[in-house]
This record gives sequence, structure tokens and C-alpha cells, in this order.
Amino acid sequence: MFFCVIIKLGDSMKIFKRILLFILFASIVAAGIYVYLNKDRWMNEKKLSEVLSEDKVKSIKENDDTELALSLVSSDSFESSNIDRYIKYSKDTNLDNDKVIKLVNNNIDKLDDFIYDDIILSLLDEEYYLYKNTNRYMNYYKEHKDLKASAIITNVNSNIDYAFYTHTHKTDLSKGNLILVNKFNYLDEDYVPDLVDIDSEYGDWGSLTPDAYEAFKVMVAGAKEDGIKLFSCSPYRSYELQSSLYHRYGARDGYDKADTYSARPGSSEHQTGLAIDINAADDWFNDTVEAKWLADNAYKYGFILRYPKGKEYLTGYQYESWHYRYVGKEVAKYIFDHDITFEEYYAFFIDK
Ligand code: DAL
Ligand code: ZN
Repeated sequence: MFFCVIIKLGDSMKIFKRILLFILFASIVAAGIYVYLNKDRWMNEKKLSEVLSEDKVKSIKENDDTELALSLVSSDSFESSNIDRYIKYSKDTNLDNDKVIKLVNNNIDKLDDFIYDDIILSLLDEEYYLYKNTNRYMNYYKEHKDLKASAIITNVNSNIDYAFYTHTHKTDLSKGNLILVNKFNYLDEDYVPDLVDIDSEYGDWGSLTPDAYEAFKVMVAGAKEDGIKLFSCSPYRSYELQSSLYHRYGARDGYDKADTYSARPGSSEHQTGLAIDINAADDWFNDTVEAKWLADNAYKYGFILRYPKGKEYLTGYQYESWHYRYVGKEVAKYIFDHDITFEEYYAFFIDK
């Protein structure tokens, strides 16, 4: 009898032990599953408190924005100072987190009248994107949906979303050798730059600014070493001279045609004293060795081909193989290397 009780007690202990072991095992498994299911959230919560202040984390939790904040914080481009704007813009637009972050990081959420289209994501990646032109890019895109983002940027930065000779401004003379004169930026009637007379060795008549003249003389010498003869054909032109030329062409060919090759008075680069027609001012010059030499070498002396072939829609002028503009060596090299117009260069680097 006594042994029977001992044996039964022994059995109960075994069962009890097994139950304990089972509970222990089940608890470990449950804890494992719980940890597995929550690890991302804990890691993100840790991340949230690592990048945001305690007060910010608290207010996010109070506003029930924890999940949204957690999903935003894991993006590579997340910037903690923008957290409130991400949350607001995300709620306002319902866009994906990556888009929200990219747009807010680029201050698109601060723009009035901005209407979202996916094109903005490509525009923001473009080298010459200018924030101040964002709404103009978007409006231009609406009318030109076939264009690539790079073309939208180029065209709007060059003001091609406006008709020529509208939205005109007096040009900023403080830019010195980099002043921009074109169909949107003009010079006053009485503007005359500092000028030096061109020696007869370099041309029959006229003047240039001292910097442009010095650079021209060096270029003429450099060309001569290569067996190329260069001379000034038409350098500085006063407002009055440009006016008489333009009206003569307008009367002869009609003003629409004249606008494709002659600047209206006040809008000619020749009035800056920084532009020069070299050897000729006519299409026969296009295929000469002199034109080729200039196209390949002028930038080394600080001059750019101002109205290139294929860029007529940007400059507003037909190709002029003879018209060179002094901008200095560094800028000329950049423009040459990157095959851009002075309009594009000016918009991005000078007029920011
Ligand atoms: N031919 C150039 C565009 C001028 O008239 O200034
Ligand atoms: Zn010219």
C-alpha cells in the first residue's frame, strides 16, 4: 500500500514536470514569435527616438502618427528636421513616402499653386533644375508632354515658355563680362560700355571693351600660328546703329524675318562691346576653315559661339558662325565642354 502511494506520487510528479516543461517550451516559442513579429517595429521605434527628440516622438504618438513616422524614418533620404512637413505633406497628398521625402527635401511643399505630376521627380534629378522655375516647368510640361525632363529645364531656363520680346527686363549690368543681352534682357538706349578703338591691323573700324579687345588680339595671334587669318568685321554697335540696321532689314525682308537674324535696338549683344562678328556676317562664312578654327578654338581665348546651329529655338537667332561673344576663358570652356548656350549658363550660374 505504502509503495503504491509512493509510485502514484512519483507518476504525478512526472506529469507535473512534463506540464511545467511544456509551459516553459510554449512560453519560449510564444516569446520568440512575439519578438519576431515586433522586431521591425522595435527597431524602428529605436530609430525614431535616435533621430527625433523625446518631445517630438511624444507628440507624434499623441497625434497617432507613429506608424507614418516609422515608415518615413526608414527612408535613406529622411531628414529629421523635416518630420512635421513629411507628415503633413503625406496626409495632404497621399503620395508614397519616398516621393513625399524627395518633394519635401526639395521644398516643393512650400510652393503655392504647385500641382503634382510624376514629372517633378525627374525634373528634380536634372543638373540645371532651378527651384524658382518649378511652377513654370510644370506648366510648360502640360503643353509639351512629349519632352524629356532635360528639355523642359533647358527651355524654361532659357525663357522659351515665354514669347520672344515679352517678359523683358533691363539687364543686370553688375555682371560685367557676363551681362546677358537677348530677347528678354535689354540695354537702355543710352548705354555705352567702356570702349577702346580697334587697331587697323585687326579690323577696319570700331571698338570693343578692353577685356574683349585684349582677348581678341591674343586669339588673332593664336589663329595666325595655325595659318588662319581673323579680323574684326563688326564689333561694338551703338543703339542708334543697331536701330538703323534692324529697320533696314525689317523694311527689306519683313520684321518677322528680320527678327530671326537681327536684334531689335537695345537687344543686340553688339551694344555690350563684348560681341564681335569675325571676318564676315554672312552664311558663306559657315563652311570656311576660319569658321571651323573659331568653332574649335575660340573658347580657349574666352569667346563663345553665341548663336549655334541647332539652338536657334533657344537663342532666338539663326546660326551665326561669325558672331562670337567674350565671356572669359573659364566660362567659355564650361559652355564649350557642356555644349550649352549662354542663356542656359546664365540662368543656372549667374542669375540664381
Ligand atoms: N545678328 C545679331 C543677332 C544682332 O543683331 O545682334
Ligand atoms: Zn553679330
